[in-house]
Amino acid sequence: MTSTSKPDYSASLQAFVAAAHQSRDLNILELFGSEPQRLDRLSMEAAGLYLDLSRQRLPLSAMPVFEQLVQSSGLAEQRAAMFAGEPINFTEQRAVFHVALRAPSRQTSKLGANGESVGEEIQQTLARMRSFSKAVRDGQWRGASGERITDVVNVGIGGSQLGPLLACDALQDEQEPALRVHFLANIDPVAWQRIRRQINPASTLVVIASKSWRTIETARNAQAVRSWLLASGIDETALHHHLVGVTANPEGAKAFGLGEDGIFPFRDWVGGRYSLWSAIGLPVMLQIGPDGFDQMLAGAQVMDEHFLQTPWARNAPVLLALTTLWNALGLQSQTEAVIPYTAALARLPAYLQQLQMESNGKSVDREGQRLQVPASPVVWGEPGTDAQHSFFQALHQGPQAQPVDFVLVAETERDPQERGLGLHANALAQAEALLRGQASPDDPHRRYDGNRPSSTILLPRLDPCHFGALIALYEHKTAALGWLLRINSFDQWGVELGKVIATKHEALLKGETALEDVDLDPSTRALLQRLKASH
Ligand code: F6P
Repeated sequence: MTSTSKPDYSASLQAFVAAAHQSRDLNILELFGSEPQRLDRLSMEAAGLYLDLSRQRLPLSAMPVFEQLVQSSGLAEQRAAMFAGEPINFTEQRAVFHVALRAPSRQTSKLGANGESVGEEIQQTLARMRSFSKAVRDGQWRGASGERITDVVNVGIGGSQLGPLLACDALQDEQEPALRVHFLANIDPVAWQRIRRQINPASTLVVIASKSWRTIETARNAQAVRSWLLASGIDETALHHHLVGVTANPEGAKAFGLGEDGIFPFRDWVGGRYSLWSAIGLPVMLQIGPDGFDQMLAGAQVMDEHFLQTPWARNAPVLLALTTLWNALGLQSQTEAVIPYTAALARLPAYLQQLQMESNGKSVDREGQRLQVPASPVVWGEPGTDAQHSFFQALHQGPQAQPVDFVLVAETERDPQERGLGLHANALAQAEALLRGQASPDDPHRRYDGNRPSSTILLPRLDPCHFGALIALYEHKTAALGWLLRINSFDQWGVELGKVIATKHEALLKGETALEDVDLDPSTRALLQRLKASH
């Protein structure tokens, strides 16, 4: 469709909003009855994953308004621009090119971000990561005193922690982890104390991961860890056995004391929350090995192809994005729960919180106009079945339906107690209970309204390939939602103000600035006074 024949965006959005509002009175079970093709139309395969949206409160009759919104929003053009390495993150003048990191190597020579070719550099860094990880895992890379590396500490926060933490947790070999990987993010000294108790400096490798190399938590934790290594007797000249850095600011890493060989670089066109595929994935490669990492990239790449090539009506990320918007308007739900039914994906909700809420937690569109519709639900969740024994009560009987993504893995551990089977039975039971509800004419306490929507994502198994596809699915869903609403999903100015104020408060707590000299609200002033007394 050419731009001249495109439907008008505002009119399309209004039509979408109106249709979503009308969906409030629909009953999902009745839709199954009246729409014989419902399951076929709303379920699909994408990169080996099965996605079922048929238990959402959306009628097939709404598809034309979905299509209009997709066409008029310019989603396809924005997607093409992202895959072409154009600077679509316009507030920072940056390309958004994490997809280049997982493009097959035969294609990378053609890749360019912002007009600059990037393929060779991507392959060089990957090759360095591979040989380094291999050496550490094989025991050729040793600590300064010759000890084999047993523990890796990743010092990083946000995008420089959440993706690698999730991947390491999800993909670790249950039987024999080659290395133990720890994640130090919080500036609270207790976080480091807890890790320090478990490790020995002689056999520890520290990866300092910071795109900007300016993040205060990471800078201070890196200093603490460096001092700990030195205090253990490791000579400054031998620190490179124990300390490497991953960054888009190699000059910053050099100023910290790292040599060129100890720096694994990536570029500013990799957003922090999209950086798992870059050198930020180094701890993952150390944990699962270079082949596993390659498979993770390959799985994500298959999802990239699906996202790029599949018409919107069968396109899993686009439909997930449309569903989120539909629910925000139709159900007026302000949240979206993600419940992985596997302990291995326990950190998925935390990862998705940053991915989706840092990307789309915005109130203005690309033109700076206030959004007329909500952009980002609050993303939350815990693994099942644990969550069934905490907040599921509210999902079933709370006053407001909150949509749920159930994430299941078909292949589970087999054991005499048949716990894997129980896991699956429970996941399906919860989704069915939400859908069906239960009448209870004589006792309102036992009544379940039902008609509560959920999506299901089924992975055949939790291997690096399908894990990569799952993460890419949510990445593209996030981008697609941003494009549908015409917002910039790739900056995060909302995190800056707090950082500036924290600097001011540190000066007040240290007594470098007097409390009387600063304009403070009464609440902040009183708390600063109390805390100052404890420092
Ligand atoms: O404060 C938010 C943020 O900028 C995230 O976007 C980012 O992932 C995180 O901080 C860490 O940043 P860096 O990798 O530059 O240390």
